[in-house]
Amino acid sequence: MGRLTDRIAVVTGAGRGIGKEIALLMASEGAKVVVNDLGGNTDGTGGGSIAQEVADEIISNGGDAVANTNSVAEIEGGKSIINSAVEAFGGLDILVNNAGILRDRTIFNMEESDWDAVIAVHLKGHYCCTRPFAQYIREQNRTGCRIINFSSVSGLYGNFGQANYGAAKAGIAGFSRVIALELAKYGCTSNTISPGALTRMTIPLRENRGEKVESADLEDGGPQHIAPICAWLASEASAGITSEIFHTGRGGISIMQQPKVIKQFVKKSGLWSLGELDQVVPQLVEAKKENIASADTSGAPVEV
Ligand SMILES: NC(=O)c1ccc[n+]([C@@H]2O[C@H](COP(=O)([O-])OP(=O)(O)OC[C@H]3O[C@@H](n4cnc5c(N)ncnc54)[C@H](O)[C@@H]3O)[C@@H](O)[C@H]2O)c1
Repeated sequence: MGRLTDRIAVVTGAGRGIGKEIALLMASEGAKVVVNDLGGNTDGTGGGSIAQEVADEIISNGGDAVANTNSVAEIEGGKSIINSAVEAFGGLDILVNNAGILRDRTIFNMEESDWDAVIAVHLKGHYCCTRPFAQYIREQNRTGCRIINFSSVSGLYGNFGQANYGAAKAGIAGFSRVIALELAKYGCTSNTISPGALTRMTIPLRENRGEKVESADLEDGGPQHIAPICAWLASEASAGITSEIFHTGRGGISIMQQPKVIKQFVKKSGLWSLGELDQVVPQLVEAKKENIASADTSGAPVEV
């Protein structure tokens, strides 16, 4: 009996890369899976039937799966993806918002179309799938559901040339925290993954730096390393763990700090003078440096 027996999951962008590994692992743990993917290129253009190939692989392994090729970037697509689970398997418990594209450009060269496409698939895509799922949870009073969202260090830390992607990925972290609050009364958790894996999205970045990707690299750092924490967060074991951000990849699993006040000054009355801010702001910045130094120490890898 697997950890996800009798559970029903939707994994978006599951035709390849991280999503495919999540779909395969969840199915091997007993989940019935909707494999969603429109099968396009990394920049979001084009389409193909890779979702069906992954669904077929799950079925040939003895699991249950159906394919869905709708886009997460439109609300009608999101509704159809959620409906696929209800129609094929009679319900839905787990939503993994994984689908993604890239249109990297510096802000000097970023056209409106590059901005819109990336925000649509990532940030709006999370909304388009989560909204119909949330409505379904409320209408059916379905408890114990799970939502797993996909952010990135690009948004959580910042990454050169990715203003569109970084904005979407930071937005997703905020979205996930709000969803955690709004669905808590149904026992539904909402957590965020910040992955690091060698996929078609990241291998070219490596190769552009002149680094060759060998099969041993794919074994050590491939998308299969992201799937276990997703399956665990989808399982009953994760009840009560919500609104968190887990960074994972290459055998590492870590929890990330969330925005929090780490030092503050309060003026009893009146506005801050600029001269007072000359004194206070450097102390705030210093407190932040100390906080980061402490997190650097506590966040050093522990081998298990
Ligand atoms: N690989 C990494 O190191 C890394 C790092 C940070 C974040 N991420 C995030 O992880 C997720 C998975 O990335 P990956 O590396 O597996 O990339 P990938 O390109 O291998 O897979 C993404 C999949 O999403 C699908 N997709 C794209 N637009 C879609 C749409 N509108 N509707 C449905 N499906 C769509 C694609 O067809 C593709 O199969 C993405 O959200 C990505 O931003 C990845």
